[in-house]
Amino acid sequence: MSPSAGGLVVFLLSVQVIQSQDGWRVDYFKTDICKAKGSQVYISCEFTYPPGKHYSDIKDRFWFTKEKDGEPVDLTTDSEYSGRVTDTCNSFTKTCSLIITDVRESDSAEYKFTLMTNKPGEKYTGSPGVTLSVTGLQVQVRRSDSTWLELTYHSSCVLSDRGEYEWSKNEEYIETGSSLLVSSGSTDRYSCYLRGPTGQRSPAVYGPQRPSVSVSPSAEMMEGDSVNLTCSTDANPAANYTWYKEHEDSPRASGQIFTITDFTAEHSGNYYCEAQNEMGRSNSTLRLITSSGKGGCTWSTTTTVFASISAVFLLIIILAVLYIRSH
Ligand SMILES: *[C@@H]1O[C@H](CO)[C@@H](O)[C@H](O)[C@H]1NC(C)=O
Ligand SMILES: *[C@@H]1O[C@H](CO)[C@@H](O)[C@H](O)[C@H]1NC(C)=O
Ligand SMILES: *[C@@H]1O[C@H](CO)[C@@H](O)[C@H](O)[C@H]1NC(C)=O
Repeated sequence: MSPSAGGLVVFLLSVQVIQSQDGWRVDYFKTDICKAKGSQVYISCEFTYPPGKHYSDIKDRFWFTKEKDGEPVDLTTDSEYSGRVTDTCNSFTKTCSLIITDVRESDSAEYKFTLMTNKPGEKYTGSPGVTLSVTGLQVQVRRSDSTWLELTYHSSCVLSDRGEYEWSKNEEYIETGSSLLVSSGSTDRYSCYLRGPTGQRSPAVYGPQRPSVSVSPSAEMMEGDSVNLTCSTDANPAANYTWYKEHEDSPRASGQIFTITDFTAEHSGNYYCEAQNEMGRSNSTLRLITSSGKGGCTWSTTTTVFASISAVFLLIIILAVLYIRSH
């Protein structure tokens, strides 16, 4: 035997030693499990006790993830799992299983099985245990070219039972597959769905709708005023915001709120807010005007003048009609 092979045998033996002790042994059927949020997990083990012991000598056995004062806490008594766990053992095959339904991300932990006999202090825990990772399902967006986007599903661990993925557009099934091509700039809602008994749906991704823009305190500005322009829209992933002034290529600001301080006549005009995420972009316009209070011919003063002129004309016509009628 070569020295390295000898080393390997010693290593394997030492693993055996960790796994069992004085004839006690717990073997887990699967030690790494990744599950989609909301699904059900099945964890199981087989145990062995020393010769001379009997199944009836086992006083207690349970699954745990936490310890309290150095003692393992039976999972079935943990309020976080209440109504979601079933713990069963088969005395004939000496196998035990734990079923957790509607798994949550907070269930991600190492699950161990422990046995204790009626002899005080005699207990055995199978360690290391089973690592459970619970992941949410997400849709990732990648630009394929200038017109197409590729949507793929994403989970933080590789799912233990990978089913088929179905894609939906605005809640309606479109196709099955590992990815989906969609045209960019769409405001349709796409989500993926993991087919199975406890199917899991990702949150929908969609491009920004036309943003709503508002101005505070007023769009009629006096020189020296300050104003906040606010832009918001619904999009997933969340949109970022860029502000442009008309006829200008470079942005004036980025972020949802654009503050203009010390307003001057040069500030008046149209502003665009552009909302953008990986799915597309959309914009809305807002007009700032100089208030009639301070010089300059503005939109509002011309309107006022126009309105007055119209009123005078109307009056003249009415008078003319009355005059003609009375003669
Ligand atoms: C603009 O918004 C900021 C922060 O939200 C606030 O402190 C400020 O008073 C606002 N200014 C105006 C003119 O409304
Ligand atoms: C806004 O988001 C888009 C797409 O996600 C990105 O390409 C762009 O660089 C972002 N812009 C800013 C100002 O963060
Ligand atoms: C705003 O959106 C329209 C159509 O949605 C587009 O034609 C226009 O170029 C956009 N304007 C800017 C400044 O991005």
